[in-house]
Amino acid sequence: MNKIMTSALLGATLLASAQSAAASDKIDVGLLLPYGGVYASLGKEIEGGFMQAIEESGMADKFNIIKEDTEVKPPVGLAKARKLVLQDKADVLVGLVSSGVLGAVRDFVDGAKVPLIVANAGNTAATGAKCSPYITRVSFSNAQVNRPMGQWMYDNGIRKVYTLAPDYAAGHQMIEAFTKGFEAAGGKIVGGTYTPFRKTKDFGPYLTTASASDADAVFTFYAGGEAIAFVKQYDAFGLKKDKPLYGSGFLTSPLYVKAQGAAAKGVVTSLHYAPTLDTAENKKFVSVFKDKNGRSPSEFAVQGYDAGRSLVEAVKTGATDREAIAKALPTVSYTGPRGPMKIDPKTNNVIQNIYVYETIEMNGTLTQKVLGTIENVQDGVNGCKM
Ligand code: BEZ
Repeated sequence: MNKIMTSALLGATLLASAQSAAASDKIDVGLLLPYGGVYASLGKEIEGGFMQAIEESGMADKFNIIKEDTEVKPPVGLAKARKLVLQDKADVLVGLVSSGVLGAVRDFVDGAKVPLIVANAGNTAATGAKCSPYITRVSFSNAQVNRPMGQWMYDNGIRKVYTLAPDYAAGHQMIEAFTKGFEAAGGKIVGGTYTPFRKTKDFGPYLTTASASDADAVFTFYAGGEAIAFVKQYDAFGLKKDKPLYGSGFLTSPLYVKAQGAAAKGVVTSLHYAPTLDTAENKKFVSVFKDKNGRSPSEFAVQGYDAGRSLVEAVKTGATDREAIAKALPTVSYTGPRGPMKIDPKTNNVIQNIYVYETIEMNGTLTQKVLGTIENVQDGVNGCKM
């Protein structure tokens, strides 16, 4: 009996060590995304874009991908990051959608010295006062996307604005950046509200207050399920005519603009990507994505794709362990679907174009008409010490 148990144990040990040897032969990638909650569709889209880049690289056999669901909850995100790093021994983490979740995992990632490629969460502090040589962001910062829109709206005749956004880090940072840009241009913010995040289903009371203000326009940030509900209710309230709706482009993302329908028509926003960008790199990306998914890619797909492509480029330099990957990531630069992109070595945030686009209807389909391009938008150092 003892012999049988001993040999069974030995077999199990051999299997375990064979498995861990196999896992350590590959680069273990911890994919940290929300698969539930208001940002669930964003997580799935980022994963799709990431896998597209890995498959396209011809290096898929070099990576072992372990997925974890952060939901949209900072403590859950932190617990999953710890599990991926301490238990699964991930060589690199990729993902994060919510600024709140990024804020929660930042100190752990920095302390554990594990490279993190941020594929969405715009938390401005993560590439500012709370920057880290282990955090490289290929998506955007909340300030970067919204700051240029202040000047653009002023130049287009808007003088007074009312703001609305969810009450968490991203909502505050996006509105603060827009406000700075708009006031610097000469505009005035006449009021604003932060709505309870993940809890607001009925925007009616907030829309009533916005409607009663003497604003020329409303500027907002909402994304995912909240963006769908907000844009539909704004239209149903009949506000669009009197107070045109502006925002950061997540508001009318191609990922869910179909669910918003005609309510999204005429909404003008700023973002680092639109699937209608007329470049060879984008056309190629859109065509492959469309063949796979039967629809146009969103900014979330592109962010996942650029996270995957940056990882591949870093590995091509010979980097395979945590330290080497962290060092290689900020050196990656190329012209991709969104245009030229490179990482600012002072902050590890991406430098990229910001596009102003209007959602229009063409041949019975909602699409994105690019109205303007602000080139190579770069954040300030904002207290970052690398
Ligand atoms: C954020 O929390 O940083 C965020 C979430 C969804 C879209 C854009 C930003």
